[in-house]
Amino acid sequence: RPISTRLRASRYIVDDPENNVTPYIANLVGKNLHQTENHPLYIIRKRIESYFGSDFEIFDNEDPIVTTTQCFDDLLIPPDHPGRQKSDTYYVTKDSVLRTHTSAHQSQHLRAGHQKFLCTGDVYRRDEIDSSHFPAFHQMEGVKLLVDGSWTSRDEWLQSSDCEIVAKDLKTTLEGMVDHVFQQGSSLEKRWRDDYFPFTEPSFELDILWQGEWMEVLGCGVIHTGVLERCDVSQKRGWAFGLGLERLAMVLFGIPDIRLFWTQDPRFHSQFTSGDIVQFKPYSKYPPVYKDIAFWLPENNNFEENDFFELARELAGDLVEQIALIDKFKHPKTERTSCCYRVTYRSMDRSLTDVEINQIQDSLREKAALALHVQLR
Ligand code: PHE
Repeated sequence: RPISTRLRASRYIVDDPENNVTPYIANLVGKNLHQTENHPLYIIRKRIESYFGSDFEIFDNEDPIVTTTQCFDDLLIPPDHPGRQKSDTYYVTKDSVLRTHTSAHQSQHLRAGHQKFLCTGDVYRRDEIDSSHFPAFHQMEGVKLLVDGSWTSRDEWLQSSDCEIVAKDLKTTLEGMVDHVFQQGSSLEKRWRDDYFPFTEPSFELDILWQGEWMEVLGCGVIHTGVLERCDVSQKRGWAFGLGLERLAMVLFGIPDIRLFWTQDPRFHSQFTSGDIVQFKPYSKYPPVYKDIAFWLPENNNFEENDFFELARELAGDLVEQIALIDKFKHPKTERTSCCYRVTYRSMDRSLTDVEINQIQDSLREKAALALHVQLR
């Protein structure tokens, strides 16, 4: 196990000035939860695939390392887009990243001539840490080309009845999909909202009313003509959507914490069987340990929260349950900013000892001061 982990990591952690993949993240890549039979993410994925039927080709084994061209340029995401920044994205080299969304595979499949397909995979985003955010999660992409023609301008296309047909097909299909997944007949309440993505036009978001609250399920839209042109299919039009599997699985199975998807605990896995959506029965949690850390930000205020979160991840791995900013103020005279974060440590699998947590907290303090140039208080 140590050897294979090291070999695996060496694909993602390479000697390159742009590389910001940490060992903790590298170790998650390739777990392929979406391919693991009886896993809740697999169960949801299969249920969605069964709705689309054999018309749609299935992809689930693409390399999670993609080029920045695949992940961004092919999708018309401009160079200065926040999603491309190193503070948000794991770069392997200057020109390759751990995919931040499954849309990174749209263009290659369109170029290869596929017209209807679903593509599922693990995606990576540098993010905060809590029960609903984790730097790795899973998405499913769906694409369907359905009309042929030639249009002289973008405006002409956007105002055409064909564009309306595509948008209508998209909405009907996705409404049917959530009805199929939630199995509530047509009683499930849904609402459409306008959204924006550089690679679809127009773009929408689908929300559903779940236990009294509106929940965003997916982003989608009519594929931007610029994307199709780059794939040499400019005479065709169609739609695309992308949805997060964890969020759906959490509400459908009643799974309260996103980190549970990654646990090895048999008390979790024994509860699920392919094909069945059952309510998760919580097993007793081990007690948490809280530790606060307070520091002055560097004079130039050059401090990325995500770097701090990641440092904690790096040192404590899964033992960090949450990091919450509990106090922040500016000193009236020196004008320096002080932040205090409360770190919640908890293991999914055992009780923690004071000694081990104090050790982790001490090294977190030390490394924060060194690497992030904060001044401990
Ligand atoms: N890739 C988008 C995201 O991750 C979702 C999306 C996919 C939107 C396809 C439109 C079309 O948020």
